[in-house]
Amino acid sequence: MAKIFITGSADGLGQMAARQLIKEGHEVVLHARSMARGIQAMKALPGAKDVLIGDLSDIEETKALAEKANALGIFDAVIHNAGVYQTGSMLLLHVNTLAPYALTGLMAKPKRLIYLSSGMHLSGHPQWTDSPSYSDTKLHVLMLVKALARKWPEVYANAVDPGWVPTKMGGAGAPDDLEQGYRTQVWLAVSDDPGAIVSGQYFHHGKPARFNPAADDPGMQDKLLTGCARLTGVSL
Ligand SMILES: NC(=O)c1ccc[n+]([C@@H]2O[C@H](COP(=O)([O-])OP(=O)(O)OC[C@H]3O[C@@H](n4cnc5c(N)ncnc54)[C@H](OP(=O)(O)O)[C@@H]3O)[C@@H](O)[C@H]2O)c1
Repeated sequence: MAKIFITGSADGLGQMAARQLIKEGHEVVLHARSMARGIQAMKALPGAKDVLIGDLSDIEETKALAEKANALGIFDAVIHNAGVYQTGSMLLLHVNTLAPYALTGLMAKPKRLIYLSSGMHLSGHPQWTDSPSYSDTKLHVLMLVKALARKWPEVYANAVDPGWVPTKMGGAGAPDDLEQGYRTQVWLAVSDDPGAIVSGQYFHHGKPARFNPAADDPGMQDKLLTGCARLTGVSL
């Protein structure tokens, strides 16, 4: 049985991954932005071990969330799933880039780290900016994964493109398979399949997929880490 923390698990792909992991007998700690959302999350998944509260648009709340997670001991896997899409660049930066970075730096190191990227990262720009687009932030996530694979060889850090799937974010008309949208994260979190015991990879539907080659540039990765460290006060 593995112990897994999933950000943004009151809804969407985070909730679906949590449901599947609980069904497989794992210990899952949920996360929600507010107490009200946390109550809803636990009602939806009564088999979850606990729910932690923290608004990821706020650096201080994100840091406090890391402390609450650490109080529960070391996790085997963390799925950095929470995300926002059609909103301002400040919120995109905080929720999609800075929160996973800060949680990664502050939480006791798990064995496996999984980050939700997106096919839209292909049109993202690798240059550090503090007013990014959605695509930029999803490229940031992949660059963070590649940097972690270099700097933390003892950890398996990977990114997932879940496809365009019909969640609150994806919209009802999204064409991709919803089940495939969470299966890869679940597999990376707990499977001993040699394909899942890797690091620095970008997956789509359980297989390594084509990614923006700019993510492989160590200089760009380090600039991203420096920018994140400056804005969060957290270093890896
Ligand atoms: N759906 C797609 O087609 C698609 C495609 C590519 C990538 N992705 C990525 O997959 C991940 C999951 O997306 P989804 O489709 O499941 O989206 P979703 O249904 O909108 O769920 C997003 C989750 O993140 C949480 N969240 C957002 N802002 C937050 C904040 N400030 N503090 C705490 N939690 C916050 C949401 O909480 P609330 O429910 O309270 O808002 C929700 O639980 C995201 O990272 C997204 O970028 C999705």
